[in-house]
Amino acid sequence: MNSAEPASLVLGFPDCREPAQRLADAAGLDYADVDIHQFPDGESLVRLPEELPARVILYCSLDRPNTKLVELELAAGAAPGLGAEGLTLVAPYLCYMRQDTAFLPGQAVSQRIIGELLARRFDTLITVDPHLHRTHKLEDAVPVRRAIALSAASAMADSLSSREDSPLLIGPDAESEQWVGAIAGAAGLDYGVARKERLGDREVRIALPALDLAGRHVVLIDDVISTGQTLVETAGQVAARGAASISVLVTHALFVGDAEQRLGEAGVTDIVSTDSVPHTSNRIQLAGLLAAALKATPGV
Ligand code: R5P
Repeated sequence: MNSAEPASLVLGFPDCREPAQRLADAAGLDYADVDIHQFPDGESLVRLPEELPARVILYCSLDRPNTKLVELELAAGAAPGLGAEGLTLVAPYLCYMRQDTAFLPGQAVSQRIIGELLARRFDTLITVDPHLHRTHKLEDAVPVRRAIALSAASAMADSLSSREDSPLLIGPDAESEQWVGAIAGAAGLDYGVARKERLGDREVRIALPALDLAGRHVVLIDDVISTGQTLVETAGQVAARGAASISVLVTHALFVGDAEQRLGEAGVTDIVSTDSVPHTSNRIQLAGLLAAALKATPGV
């Protein structure tokens, strides 16, 4: 940000208030809440400050996205009438990235459709470790003027630095190699990647890599835990091979239903996540990473 430009304002959605305030503090920006009233019929009433500066940063992580996308659309639609001339979306977790193709005829390609929706309102998007697989670049998924995909790998690697047991890192599928490889590289640890076959929303088959796990301290690494089934299956097999301990390090802690409990039953004794999605396992704060990206982006 140029010192001659008026300061931007960070607006935080209700369930992201604390990380949004941390971002504003780290970036040296003012902060205000987005107020949301839920009507009994499920509709939302969104209220912003009466006057906005020219640049506004909306902080809204897009876990459990269907209601949030409507509320974000209402906020972003209202902001220009209150003085905003340019909108940045900080969405540490970006939804609908996994449906990046039509796997069956007639399926909506959600990634592209949601990306186009966001690009109609926002000129800048900042997110963390978006699930890019067949689409390689964030701007191809979300065609905004500036699409910035940050990596939490370095912060996640730092969270392993106090461990003296040289853990072995394991990613559950080919898609996870980009994250587990980066974290292992930054932490100077060994890693392996399993193969996954998805049979349904809550059913996966995992084939572990040919590594000797007996007596090893294993950290399972993934970008997203949703139902938890991917890592429940992986943990079960790692335990069966005689690992000394199993823990989990994840970027986006969605944790649907009893995912956390089932991970415990599968032998996982510790779960660490970033605060991209508010959850009790959050131990890695992303405010510094996000603030550095804001400061490095001209005019934001
Ligand atoms: C998929 O490729 C992702 O990287 C995760 O492995 C997946 O979303 C985890 O889902 P679940 O926790 O429901 O198995």
